[in-house]
Amino acid sequence: MNVYDSDRMTDVLATIGYAITEKPYNADMLIINTCHIREQASEKLFSELGRLRNIKIERQNAGKPTIIAVAGCVAQAAGDEIFNRAPYVDIVLGPQAYHRLPEMVLKAMDRRKKIIGKGIIDIEFATETKFDSLPNAGARGFSAFLSVQEGCNKFCTFCVVPYTRGAEYSRPVEDIIFEANNLVRDGAKELILLGQNVNAYHGEKIKGQTGTEVGLGYLLRTLAEINGLERMRYITSHPIDMDDDLVAAHREVTILMPLLHLPVQSGSNHVLKKMNRHHKIEDYYRISEKLLAQRSDTKISSDFIVGFPGESDKDFEDTLKLIREIKFIQSYSFKYSKRPGTPGALMENQIPEEIKSERLAELQGLLEGYQSNFNRKSINTVMPVLFDRKGKESGQLVGRSPFMQPVHVTAPERYFGQIVDVKLLNTTSTSLGGEIYSKSELEHEMYGANSNFENAQM
Ligand code: 5AD
Ligand code: SF4
Repeated sequence: MNVYDSDRMTDVLATIGYAITEKPYNADMLIINTCHIREQASEKLFSELGRLRNIKIERQNAGKPTIIAVAGCVAQAAGDEIFNRAPYVDIVLGPQAYHRLPEMVLKAMDRRKKIIGKGIIDIEFATETKFDSLPNAGARGFSAFLSVQEGCNKFCTFCVVPYTRGAEYSRPVEDIIFEANNLVRDGAKELILLGQNVNAYHGEKIKGQTGTEVGLGYLLRTLAEINGLERMRYITSHPIDMDDDLVAAHREVTILMPLLHLPVQSGSNHVLKKMNRHHKIEDYYRISEKLLAQRSDTKISSDFIVGFPGESDKDFEDTLKLIREIKFIQSYSFKYSKRPGTPGALMENQIPEEIKSERLAELQGLLEGYQSNFNRKSINTVMPVLFDRKGKESGQLVGRSPFMQPVHVTAPERYFGQIVDVKLLNTTSTSLGGEIYSKSELEHEMYGANSNFENAQM
């Protein structure tokens, strides 16, 4: 979401003449877009700001003024506090204020000759105006993010998102189609639909007409009709919103990729309840079965938190058990981090740091095993790969398989931006190497309907 937001800030600043530059010293404006989800993410802000301050002073000495802006969820949560700790910051803006960035920049210019002084702040919530006021998204490459939903009403007890991103909001279908068409026209082969709680999507089919709301399943089917669009994914989902219509879309929408990111957080019903997750582990298994019944090649990735307050050894064991059952092929896992203002931060039975670290190491060891097993199982299969990056070595292209595995291939430049069948030959546990599949080699197992690959046991 922050990558998408940063791109949209680039778009809005282009309207007043700004363009991206690679070297910070060359920049008339420096923006840090921040994340507040875990402590480590927000701590980075002030050390990074110190670095930008030096650049500002250096440029100032050369007669070049610099505007420093702090955007994102730390800006939202810390607000004025940022000016107190870093008075050289000119602009503080929350995630719902990006469309007002040009005005703020113009105001900041009035005071930009001074290094120190009270800056300009905007941390209002106004999601609707934001999407209506931002300029059309510019070209975003072969795999493009598209924000369809923002904010969250779930209030999981560990999470700051409902406080920093605000209430749930879904963009109208017609606005999304418009943006999707532009992205595809500009070269996107894949769209990744974004939302903090994307499968809670319930946007109006007809903008401004209440009662015309539709769900994510409908949106996926509609977008699938765009000519030239070859792949779709959506992140991030909540198990409670995985309704039957969306599950059915996994079969019907053939360009929807077979990997679903469905965070579970914990494998223990006791912890899930304390987390206010509103679902049980039994529900999670049921969703997994339903998805597999619709598409037998479905794989699931997840997020896990270890050491939530009150998590016992038995609770943790239950999480390991869930991992062994579902065999997640990729996951993100974190030690519980107290977020100010969330109910979890005030709960009793906080887990000591050493136990959190031990549990995380064990959990990650198990997850990595399933990830590398899946990658090993992929060897000698043929998968379509969207080449969207150039590799470090010359002549090398890097792309993603349907399951988001990074695939490195030495291949002619003409394949850049294309989806090409690749025979997978080797793995480094997190990524794969291969060669462009030549149709004459029919002895290789094909990825696709009814292949043995789908049923491969890991
Ligand atoms: N501590 C640790 N991990 C967290 N996440 C969200 N809040 C916290 C927290 N307070 C994780 C969840 C979520 C992912 C985006 O970040 O696993 O799914
Ligand atoms: Fe945070 Fe996701 Fe829970 Fe919303 S559903 S509160 S974004 S973890």
